[in-house]
Amino acid sequence: MPELNPLRIGVAGLGTVAGGVVKLLRDEAERLARQAGRPLQLVQVASRTPKSGIDLAGAAFSTDLRALHQAEVDVVVELIGGEDQALNLVSGALQRGQHVVTANKAIIASHGNELLEQARGNGVGLGFEAAVAGGIPVLGALRSGLAANRVSTLAGIINGTSNYILTAMGEQGTSFAEALAKAQELGFAEADPTFDVEGIDAAHKLTILAALAFDTEFRFADVYTEGISHITGEDLEYAKELGYRIKHLAIARRTEAGCETRVHPTLVAQNSLLAGVEGVMNAVWIEGDATGPTLYYGAGAGALPTASAVVADLVAIARGDGFDWRVGGEQQAALPIEQTHSAFYLRIPSLDAPGVFAEVATILGQHGISIEGAIQREAAVRGDGGSASWVPIVIVTAPVAEAAMNSALDLVQKVPEVVGQITRIRVAHFADE
Ligand code: HSE
Repeated sequence: MPELNPLRIGVAGLGTVAGGVVKLLRDEAERLARQAGRPLQLVQVASRTPKSGIDLAGAAFSTDLRALHQAEVDVVVELIGGEDQALNLVSGALQRGQHVVTANKAIIASHGNELLEQARGNGVGLGFEAAVAGGIPVLGALRSGLAANRVSTLAGIINGTSNYILTAMGEQGTSFAEALAKAQELGFAEADPTFDVEGIDAAHKLTILAALAFDTEFRFADVYTEGISHITGEDLEYAKELGYRIKHLAIARRTEAGCETRVHPTLVAQNSLLAGVEGVMNAVWIEGDATGPTLYYGAGAGALPTASAVVADLVAIARGDGFDWRVGGEQQAALPIEQTHSAFYLRIPSLDAPGVFAEVATILGQHGISIEGAIQREAAVRGDGGSASWVPIVIVTAPVAEAAMNSALDLVQKVPEVVGQITRIRVAHFADE
């Protein structure tokens, strides 16, 4: 290969993903140079916490992130995580005219509009493939492979920790706390695992996917977000009995009224492709008008899968691809959750008395809500069978406007025989069932 200007890379952070990036740049140098058309040269690593034992292949090391400001660094790879410092680092680099590659979903979801503006203004690239679903090149698919399509629906299992917890609870009967501890041990959970189990991590990623799918701005504040911490083993069992699995889905849909973006536990038919995505794996389902349904599956986290996405962005920059993201071109209203439509699974703890089911069914009927299936198991009665005994009534409804379901459940909750908090979980159907 003739001598070509290398792309000079500076990496911020030296954690798990950075270790993977350093390894790929070092061990795959020749092949990557052929892919990129010029060498990818790691010149500087900066991390506040030095880590011995990683072979930096001759790159300089500093504990001062300002070492990345030097003009010899063409592209800054931000892998320090968190929000404020990472945002300063990324924004500063773009303003100095350095390209940036980041795995930071929080800063792209919350500040992506301004950061893309800065990148455009300074004529540099901003790559963030690693921010969503680790090793699955789904942003590239939306940007390039699906460019001819108008996307109508996107649904993803994009938080490995939640998927691991729901799989372990449903398949092995593991408790929520045990399953979370195991996910943390595997290194998938965020530093603050409430980001995983309360859906914030998935909402960050959905914000990015929806902006690219629908050409809207990044609108993190508009994502309806609900976690999995209220899901019980009993719900997972009832769902199975009804022919479903419970998954923590991130859903974006384009309707005539606007775009809806929501993250919540969801019943999906057990024969659907998304139901088969288990453990820490991720998958993203995208329906384009030309392609029909497509599915992207793979590891959503981990050193090498995430590093693979970072290095892919570096190769793109070395080839002169400025990314040129298409976001913010369309002005589509963000639909509040009350205006969305879903079928529902309801678990209603009720006294074991005559007429309760009929009363619940009447209220649902008065709100135009049709019952598709129901279970009331005698074996599930809690108590001694006397007047204080209660039993869960489990119902699956037909699709209904969320606002109608809210009004109906307000009334059902007030029925004197309903003795506890009603659990409601949305149900979604996909074209592959
Ligand atoms: N905490 C995230 C997950 C890591 O569990 O999927 C990848 O973003």
